[in-house]
Amino acid sequence: MARIIDGKAIAQRVRAEVKAGALAFGEATGVRIGLALLRVGDDPASAVYVRSKVKACAEVGFASFEHELPRETSQRDLLDLVARLDQDPAVHGILVQLPLPDHLDADAVLMAVDPRKDVDGFHPLNAGRLMTGRPGVRACTPFGIMRMLDHVGIDLAGRRAVVVGRSNIVGKPMAMLLLERNATVVMCHSRTRDLAEEVGRADLLVSAIGRPELIRGAWVRPGAVVVDVGMNRLPDGRLVGDVEFPAAESRASWITTVPGGVGPMTVATLMANTLHAARLAAGLA
Ligand code: GUN
Repeated sequence: MARIIDGKAIAQRVRAEVKAGALAFGEATGVRIGLALLRVGDDPASAVYVRSKVKACAEVGFASFEHELPRETSQRDLLDLVARLDQDPAVHGILVQLPLPDHLDADAVLMAVDPRKDVDGFHPLNAGRLMTGRPGVRACTPFGIMRMLDHVGIDLAGRRAVVVGRSNIVGKPMAMLLLERNATVVMCHSRTRDLAEEVGRADLLVSAIGRPELIRGAWVRPGAVVVDVGMNRLPDGRLVGDVEFPAAESRASWITTVPGGVGPMTVATLMANTLHAARLAAGLA
């Protein structure tokens, strides 16, 4: 039976560290750290995510600047807002909640965020820094997962890590972070020929595909570590991950839950990235 990697508890600890850091930053500079959160349209999941980020800001002592824009917002107006926030000294971090409505060009918007305020790590400059092993902002979800793995003492060197999903938000940066730690990384996606076989060879499985329980518990190699990034709402209202939890739990050595696993760590890591951005801006890091 697997032990649970308690994302909620680890996130609590990270938030406490950030809170102490924000307090020290305020004492040293007289400035309150600020995070701007932009959301366009009425995607209900995005509304929930942004709300939890605003709540986390309050908890760690950051100011949050919420911008909720109507669905019809033009590319021009959104870019103008980002440009204003780039210049605003009260704003240390800028987050554009994804996905954006289809008529907007998300790549262009992410490119417009000052890389120094890109606390999501989505700007190509920060993605490229990760790719080339240079210091920079790391995407919150994969960076939070690394912290979870470190917290429970999982040694990655030489181990086979299978990442399912190739998004810019999770899959690709996850693979890079695991590679940096000397894991043997395999990336799987919708066109992978035999997903069950690939999963069955994983010492560490990270799934970020957004397909409810696509990964059957019986595929999991006995003793594997399982990290489930999926958040899938079923028609009956239940929230499940990408992995069939009960069967996977009986085979894995460590496993994350949905909810209460990766989600809280993503938000806590966003707070940590914002503190770091503020320190860099003030010449304190
Ligand atoms: N949409 C899904 N995950 C994320 C995230 O980590 N950051 C932002 N901005 N949007 C997302």
